[in-house]
Amino acid sequence: MHQVNLAENIFYLGFNDRKTHLFENLWPIPHGVSYNSYLIVDEKIALIDTVERNFVDQYLEQIEILTNGRKVDYLVINHMEPDHSGALKAVVAKYPDIILVGNKKTFDMVANYYKITKNTLEVYDESELPLGKHRLTFATTPMVHWPETMVSFEMTEKILFTGDAFGSFGTLDGGIFDDELNLDHYEEELMRYFTNIVGKYCPHTQRALKKIETLDVKMLAATHGPIWRSNLKYILDRYENWSSYTTDPGAVIVYGSMYGNTEKMAEVIARQLAIRGVKNIRVYDASKTHASYIISDIFKYKAFIVGSAAYNNELFPSVETLITKIEHMGIKNHLLGIFGSFGWNGGGVKNLQKFAENIKWELAYEPVEEKGTLKADKFQQCIDLANAIADRLMD
Ligand code: FEO
Repeated sequence: MHQVNLAENIFYLGFNDRKTHLFENLWPIPHGVSYNSYLIVDEKIALIDTVERNFVDQYLEQIEILTNGRKVDYLVINHMEPDHSGALKAVVAKYPDIILVGNKKTFDMVANYYKITKNTLEVYDESELPLGKHRLTFATTPMVHWPETMVSFEMTEKILFTGDAFGSFGTLDGGIFDDELNLDHYEEELMRYFTNIVGKYCPHTQRALKKIETLDVKMLAATHGPIWRSNLKYILDRYENWSSYTTDPGAVIVYGSMYGNTEKMAEVIARQLAIRGVKNIRVYDASKTHASYIISDIFKYKAFIVGSAAYNNELFPSVETLITKIEHMGIKNHLLGIFGSFGWNGGGVKNLQKFAENIKWELAYEPVEEKGTLKADKFQQCIDLANAIADRLMD
């Protein structure tokens, strides 16, 4: 394998996963994902995070090569999720004296996941770990996106090892640093990674960004996706916007429809928005498009207009799954429209109204509900709903 240096004696040590279909067995990764670990070789040697367990053998081989057979002194654990701690047990087995470096939340997880309880070093904000020429310091970033998450800062080269923060879906296809690849390819995958994985914890991300601001960072090295060394502003600005729920004028229209009646309402609303000059309109069938992509677009656009057919007196199941996810994520600062149809006893719109109460987004217009196929008066209400949303988006 090529030796990849972030700086002298600081190495990238990551692997590309093009086999897994669903990240966390949940989120589609058609472009794969990378698991990035890092190695600092100095008077003392430190690993920063590990990799997913399927890569353990190659990982240990690479460590052996890069360290020239020396023992590893420290394993810094920025994040315990098994896509990064998957090789922890194997690393401890190979280097039994290795010291695990983490914060007060880390070691309970180490014990619970891997039954390892010794050789631990607890660090705090601004603790220092000298390695020789290189020195590490630490900052906890709780709930970005687990309780134990922290970042580690190498003070000589000013490299911040950030765990999942600033990470991306998508394998590193040759290019590893931001200036070696076309960021257009990663733009959607960066946002999908943030919104799907970290998006529930926007206030925590804001706090973490404030902490990071105090450091003179020259490079951001996440555990997934590109390493940022030339265009830090690109990713920092995006994280600032996404985590503060800053949106573009636009609408995501999602529907669940069995026989096309609710779908027809979605089409009417979409067309009227376009007539009113809204250019960013995304219409999704909740039964076809995975929530991963819809959630990413909800973070992107101000309005969310959701429609559901009634199904056994309840929401249409694919819509129910989606809005449950959205509710759990606690996304803020959106305009809402709701609509739907039913054949005999309703249940779709009624439950969307409960969603509206729970999520507390501003309802731009009264719910529109039709019995059977769309008729003139409800057609007009769909137009009115679209106009109410457009009035706000085109302000
Ligand atoms: Fe990439 Fe939260 O693990």
